[in-house]
Amino acid sequence: MMYEPTLESVRAHVVPDWFHDAKLGIFIHWGLYSVPGWAPTTGPLHEVVAKEGWQGWFARNPYAEWYMNSLRVPGSPTASYHAQHFGADFPYERFAETFNRDTSSWDPSQWADLFRRAGARYVVLTTKHHDGFLLWPSSRPNPFREGYHASRDLVGDLTGAVRDAGLRMGLYYSGGLDWTFNDRVIADIIDLFMGVPQQPEYVEYASAHWKELIDRYQPSVLWNDIGYPAAANLPELFSYYYNTVPEGVINDRFTQAPVGDGPPDPAAIMQAIAQGMLPAPPHFDFRTPEYAVFPDIKAEKWESCRGLGYSFGYNRNETVDDMLSPAELVRSFVDIVSKNGNLLINVGPMGDGTIPTEQAERLEALGAWLAVNGEAIYGSRPWTRAEGTTDSGVGVRFTRKGSDLYAILLDTPQQPQVTLTGLTIPAGTGVTLFGYGDIAAVQHDSGLTVTLPSPLADAPAHTIKIVGGAA
Ligand code: GLC
Repeated sequence: MMYEPTLESVRAHVVPDWFHDAKLGIFIHWGLYSVPGWAPTTGPLHEVVAKEGWQGWFARNPYAEWYMNSLRVPGSPTASYHAQHFGADFPYERFAETFNRDTSSWDPSQWADLFRRAGARYVVLTTKHHDGFLLWPSSRPNPFREGYHASRDLVGDLTGAVRDAGLRMGLYYSGGLDWTFNDRVIADIIDLFMGVPQQPEYVEYASAHWKELIDRYQPSVLWNDIGYPAAANLPELFSYYYNTVPEGVINDRFTQAPVGDGPPDPAAIMQAIAQGMLPAPPHFDFRTPEYAVFPDIKAEKWESCRGLGYSFGYNRNETVDDMLSPAELVRSFVDIVSKNGNLLINVGPMGDGTIPTEQAERLEALGAWLAVNGEAIYGSRPWTRAEGTTDSGVGVRFTRKGSDLYAILLDTPQQPQVTLTGLTIPAGTGVTLFGYGDIAAVQHDSGLTVTLPSPLADAPAHTIKIVGGAA
C-alpha cells in the first residue's frame, strides 16, 4: 500500500504485529547532559507535580537530561552543582569536547548484547534531545552552534550493532523543544508549550532531520517528543515514513499546539498530563504514558516509558534506593503487558558510554525472568480481564495466546495450595508451572486451586499456563 500525504491516508495505517508482540523496548538517553550527569533526586513525575506543582518540578527537575534548562532556573540545585563543579560561567556546549573525546572508543556491541540478554525486542535512542545536540553527522548541522554534533555517527553505529543482535532500532527526536532555536527557560507548564520553536527555519530544519534519519537508518519507531511546530505538514512526513518503512510505528507526541490564538488551553493540557500523556495529535500508532500505567486493559496500543530511577539521563546522584528493584521491574512489566501495553525501559549511560552496574543488573534480572517466562509475554494479547488475586492476596495478571491462558502470580506464594479466585476453566485442561512442569489443578466454586511445588524457589513472578483456558 502506498500512502498519500493526507491524514485520511496515514490513518489507515495498522499497528504491525511486531510491535504488539515485542512488549519490551530499551530507551536510551545519551548526550551532553550525560557528562555532568547530575540532578536532584526529587521523585517520580506525578508525585512531585501533585505535591509541588510544575514550578516545583522544573526548579528541582530530577530529569538529568534537562540539565541545560535546570541550569538556567535561578536558585536550582543544578545551578549550584554546576557552579561548584565546573564554574558558574562554564558553558553547557563545552561538554561536547569531553563527550566527543570519551565516545571515540565506545563499543556499541556491548550495549546491543546487554539489551538482547535483557529480552528486549527493540531499542529507541535519543538522536537530538531538548539541548539540540545531534548524535549523528547530519547534512543539516545546527545553524547557531558550530560543530554542535557528535564527531562519530553514534546513531549509525548503534543501529548496526542492534540489528546485528537481532533487535529493531527506533529513534527519538525532540521535535517540540530545541533550546538553540527557542531558549525560553522552562519554569512552568505553560513554558513547555510556548517554548516550541515555531520559526519557518525550524519547521524546515526539524522535518529535514526526520527525513534524513528515515533515509539513513530506516528506524522502526518514530519517537518524537513534547510536540511539533504548528506549521509543519505532518501527513506529508508520516506518509513519507510509512512508504519508506512500511512496518514502522509513530508515537503520540507529534502534538501541534495552535499558536495563532494565544497559549493552548491549560485545562485540556492538565487533564491529558494527569493521565501521564500529552494531548493526542491527529494521528499516532501508540500512546506513550510516562511514569504511568493504566488500571485496566486499553483497546489502543500503548507503551509506558520510564527510567529505572527518577531520571532518563544518567544521574550520578541516584542510588538503588531511587530505583525500581529487579522484582518491581518484572512485576510492573507484567502488569503493563496484561493491559495491552509495551514497556520502554530507559537506560542512562555515562558520557563515555558506560552503563552503570545497577542499571545493567536490573536489565539482566528482567532477561533472566523472561528466559523462563517469555512464552506468556512475547506475542501474547490481553485476556478478557487483566487482574485477579489468589486466596492469600497475591496479585495475578492474565495474558493469552490463542486459546491458551497464562496466569502470572506477582509473588512467590508461601503455601503450596493456591486458589486463583473466581477463575473457571474448561474441564480436563492441562495446567503447568513454568520452570517446573505439570501441576495439579482442581476447580472449585470459589476458583481454581493449584498445587505448587514445595518449596517453590523465590522469583519476582511465576507463570501458570492453562492450555485452552482462555476459550
Ligand atoms: C519528557 C521529558 C524528556 C524525556 C521524555 C521521555 O518529555 O521532557 O526529557 O526525554 O519525556 O519520555
